[in-house]
Amino acid sequence: MEELGTHSTYRKSGNGNSPPKALCAQFLSRSEAQTFLDIYVCRFSMRNVTHSKSVGFFETQFQRQIREQDYALNPFETLALDYLRGTVLDLGSGLGNLSLEAGRRGHRVVAVDASPAAVARIHTDAQRERLPVQAIQADIERGIIDQSYNTIVAIGLLMFFRRERALELLQAIQEHVNPGGRAIVNVLIEGTTYVGMFDPDNYYLFPPNELDHRFAGWSILASRQETFPAPGGTRKVFSTVIAEKPSRPS
Ligand SMILES: C[S@@+](CC[C@H](N)C(=O)[O-])C[C@H]1O[C@@H](n2cnc3c(N)ncnc32)[C@H](O)[C@@H]1O
Repeated sequence: MEELGTHSTYRKSGNGNSPPKALCAQFLSRSEAQTFLDIYVCRFSMRNVTHSKSVGFFETQFQRQIREQDYALNPFETLALDYLRGTVLDLGSGLGNLSLEAGRRGHRVVAVDASPAAVARIHTDAQRERLPVQAIQADIERGIIDQSYNTIVAIGLLMFFRRERALELLQAIQEHVNPGGRAIVNVLIEGTTYVGMFDPDNYYLFPPNELDHRFAGWSILASRQETFPAPGGTRKVFSTVIAEKPSRPS
């Protein structure tokens, strides 16, 4: 597993043969990257960027949205904004509309996505507005979270992995939310008939109440199921859970 080092050089562990992927340096000069690494370490371990069908689907969509300057928050991001606390990890950040708005509101944010166009857009806007938002291009399929945050957001992400990986990531999210912090998770659930954006062998429609069950022991601040029409007469059914981790283990 390649890993972003915490000091002056990137380091790799495991048996990777290629040079470590420079998450931050991809869009930062060396001095900028070093400054960032010194003050706010984005310790999201990763390997090479994915070329999955899902990521290709979003890359095409994001390129069009960037051309059209279409940066509206979606309803899940709008809901999430009021629940953010402290440092934020935005997994599968897409174009970064939530991450950038969180930065404007004073949160320090690490945004992670596999889409080069999206990550470049986040970096450009964060730099221009001088926001404390770091964009990282990474394949979350193979990465791990190795730092804790006050809030971890995964809106519209976990269904793009097979069940085992989706649940592993959900558990990693839960483990890396600081005590008293928050997880904001939104997934597609059973009943969804729009599957055009999925890799056939690599997706998971959650059972309707699975998210709520998996946050047992947390305070549920919001829990919603919503259905939206999708192309070709299909539909998307979403579950969103916003939960606060107990301050002390029960
Ligand atoms: C439905 S979009 C959600 C984007 C954003 N959270 C939002 O609410 O608009 C799913 C996002 O997950 C990203 N994604 C899917 N698979 C990924 C992977 N293996 N690694 C990193 N990002 C991935 C896509 O690039 C896309 O930005």
